[in-house]
Amino acid sequence: MSYLTEFAPGAGRLRPRAFFASDAPALGLDGVWRFRLAGSAAEVTPGFETDDFDDRGWGELPVPAHWQMHGHGAPAYTNVRYPFPLDPPHVPDENPTGEYRREFTLPNGWPEGPAVLRFEGVDSCFAVWLNGRPLGWSTGSRLPAEFEVGGVLRPGRNVLAVRVHQWSPGSYLEDQDMWWLSGIFRSVTLLARPADGIADFFVHAGYDHRTGAGTLRVETGDGVRLTVPELGLADVPADEEHVLPRVEPWSAETPRLYEGVLSAEGERVPVRIGFRTVAVEDGVLKVNGRRVLFRGVNRHEWHPDHGRAVPPETMRRDLLLMKRHNVNAVRTSHYPPHPAFLDLCDELGLWVVDECDLETHGFQRVGWRGNPSDDPRWRDAFLDRMRRMVERDKNHPSVVMWSLGNEAGTGGNLAAMAAWTRERDPGRPVHYEGDRACSYVDVHSRMYASHEEVDLIGRRADEDGGADSTDGGGARRRTLPFVLCEYAHAMGAGPGGLTEYQRLFEAHERCQGGFVWEWIDHGIRRTGPDGTEWFAYGGDFGEPLHDGNFVADGLLFPDRVPSPGLAEYKKVVEPVRIGVADGRIEIVNGHDFAGTGHLEFRWSVEEEGVAVAGGRLDVPVLAPGERAEVAPPEVPAGKAETWLTVRAVLAADLPWADAGHEVAWGQGLLSPAPPPPARRPGPVTGKDGLLRVGPAVFEERTGRLLRLGGLPVDAPRLDLWRAPTDNDHGLHGRGTPDEALWRRLGLHRLRHRLVDVAVEDDALLVRTRVAPAATDLAVLADFRWWGDGDGLVLEVRAEPVGDWDCPLPRLGVRTAVPAALSHVEWYGGGPGEAYPDMCRAARVGRFAATVDELQTPYVRPQENGNRTGVRWARLTAPDGTGLRIDGAPAFELTARRWTTEDLDAARHTHELRPHDRVYLHLDAAHHGLGSASCGPGVLPEHRLTAGPRSLTLTFTPYRSAP
Ligand code: GAL
Repeated sequence: MSYLTEFAPGAGRLRPRAFFASDAPALGLDGVWRFRLAGSAAEVTPGFETDDFDDRGWGELPVPAHWQMHGHGAPAYTNVRYPFPLDPPHVPDENPTGEYRREFTLPNGWPEGPAVLRFEGVDSCFAVWLNGRPLGWSTGSRLPAEFEVGGVLRPGRNVLAVRVHQWSPGSYLEDQDMWWLSGIFRSVTLLARPADGIADFFVHAGYDHRTGAGTLRVETGDGVRLTVPELGLADVPADEEHVLPRVEPWSAETPRLYEGVLSAEGERVPVRIGFRTVAVEDGVLKVNGRRVLFRGVNRHEWHPDHGRAVPPETMRRDLLLMKRHNVNAVRTSHYPPHPAFLDLCDELGLWVVDECDLETHGFQRVGWRGNPSDDPRWRDAFLDRMRRMVERDKNHPSVVMWSLGNEAGTGGNLAAMAAWTRERDPGRPVHYEGDRACSYVDVHSRMYASHEEVDLIGRRADEDGGADSTDGGGARRRTLPFVLCEYAHAMGAGPGGLTEYQRLFEAHERCQGGFVWEWIDHGIRRTGPDGTEWFAYGGDFGEPLHDGNFVADGLLFPDRVPSPGLAEYKKVVEPVRIGVADGRIEIVNGHDFAGTGHLEFRWSVEEEGVAVAGGRLDVPVLAPGERAEVAPPEVPAGKAETWLTVRAVLAADLPWADAGHEVAWGQGLLSPAPPPPARRPGPVTGKDGLLRVGPAVFEERTGRLLRLGGLPVDAPRLDLWRAPTDNDHGLHGRGTPDEALWRRLGLHRLRHRLVDVAVEDDALLVRTRVAPAATDLAVLADFRWWGDGDGLVLEVRAEPVGDWDCPLPRLGVRTAVPAALSHVEWYGGGPGEAYPDMCRAARVGRFAATVDELQTPYVRPQENGNRTGVRWARLTAPDGTGLRIDGAPAFELTARRWTTEDLDAARHTHELRPHDRVYLHLDAAHHGLGSASCGPGVLPEHRLTAGPRSLTLTFTPYRSAP
């Protein structure tokens, strides 16, 4: 097993080539294999590869799969740190090694001659034998490897044996931030390779946007013919340039594919052709002559039960979810995806930045000492990885950039990868974020740059230097297009600040969008003893070294339920802008390529959230970039707060969504709420130490609310605390994280002192001073209570005293009502959660949900579930009793069955246990979310600075819903 100490990437493998299916015979070898896991490479089974080895004592494991997801060994998560010593190319003796065996019968009629055994992905290193004969070995987990087996196959029974090592020299190049998972995790196939077949091909299909012409040449073997009926090409030589005077180009918005066939004597290969030309021109990345704007996400392959062995239907689901959320681009972080994923991108329309399986981030911890990226002994391995990706994926129109990898420092091996790539495929720019000087890339790329920095870059005013810069090179860098290959770290509640990034992308031509980090939380599904599901993260498998829940930072929860962050992203990047204001409706087509012909515009008028009129809006078909103004429908003035909503929906079914699917919306206020009638307090009456204020009873001595009508209600108290979010925790943010400031000050352990209780002007006035221990900072909170018919009015005035030098998490009151009041209806922002810098997706309307449905199940529990701009809310029990809360004009609403302290203490969702109360937070304001878990914190305009605030609420208990 000398390969475990070599820098070479493999031996005995065939030259890399395109992935394709053909009419040549193929035999899938997925299914149940015999399996045994050895603790180290030294403990493998002698002779396991031989024909007659008796494997009946072994266990079984499906292929494709990771053995850790099937009870052998355990998953382990680290972000940057290698879980083994930096001692390249050596790996520890403790090296779990899977032994796999599978017998198969060669089908009758299988042709004699060359045949190939193809592995799509094996993590991290494997050696393979067929019928006892060694074929070779390979590294490069997320890349294919093929071996010639024509001379080894035999009619009838064949025996395939594969030895897979968890750790190998290749592991040094695979330090991506993800679970360490091993095994044959993508398909294995046996392919007959007809001698007079098509070994490989490279489709070059360009589009001239000035003339509308397409040029088509398929680089392949001599004598191969091409037929594309729709283009009028019938059995023409493939490897010649065909100029087609008029073709429909491919773009992510208009994914036009032409079906064709390549044919040789011995083989026919179906091909799908998309005409497009990618170029960097005048410092702008263009496709078909137009600037593109990436509304992207970083996608790791993830399934909560299968790890990176993602079932095909899940890949499709990802793409449908992306398209339905206005995502138009994917960076395949940080390795080439399953090849079928790219077929779907071609078909459904996504721009793809195809990234090589390469990351050496752990060397940063030793100052990049010994980084493989600049060590010539690793050069072959680097080039091998790039070649295998480019050759495999070169025929996908969706792939518009090649990325060398991620976080591998810089060095000659990366430059060599770029040079090879340009030579092999001049038709696609090269991307790599780590080349700060942009000496060997075509696009300037950064991750987590702040809004301010993006603005500077947009204005080409960014300077050399900076914390991460390796050298200057600014002059060249400033001539290139700019993308944020990662931004808006979607860990936990958030990300905040998306809108402000989008404005910069739309303001600066060279800022061509970005890719949110990341698509999905990599949680592993577990089931508790009572059947409750939860998701595990780093440390849950007893790893000695791990990075906790940093692996759960996606726009989807692990089970692919969209998070509020995804709803926000959908709204922020919507490709059509609908402005409704000042008696006008303005529609802007923000697509780069598509007109609005596929959309239908619908309007509706709602009075206090109840639809009173609606219809279709006549909007002319707009070309990309065009805008139109349309007159709003005539509607009589409403008696209540009235909004006009205009929605752009799909006019007909598309492959990724049905007719009626909403793409974009805009809302404008038609008439504000009428001023509330003048109210006069009823008298405050007292008896037996109790005070009666409207429908409520208070304790006279303390001013504490005891009962509200028939409801036992916890006396509202001022609250400033929220269970810190991952962004508050700010592990990789800048400056001192908000959570650290808050805990240092003690906002999680406030003390309340009653200053004074008085009855004045028919109102009960309760003055309090709220402060943490060990400081003289405080918030003075006055509660003024008075009765208004059936209602109880509370006016809160809060005034911080002292020199507060940190923002407040929230400012409002906290109370609790009986658990039975579990059905919530509200008029205000919804339907999902919203915070000051993540609130674009919240529209004004009337919504309903149970208290349980109001919770957002972040993998690590934290603040969540706030509903914004709530004018009124009703909480009702099944028997019809309830409580109505009105804001004047509005408040922020959170309702949950556990306390903030419970949320703060829980590490996983199943640890949260409902109490017999519904805890309510009725807030005047919240601090924003930001994305300081990795990146910038809350922007100044969304910080909740300490200052005087007030909040007015009316509580009205009822017996059956009013
Ligand atoms: C980046 C890295 C990603 C991920 C992210 C934080 O530095 O490229 O792989 O680790 O940070 O979640």
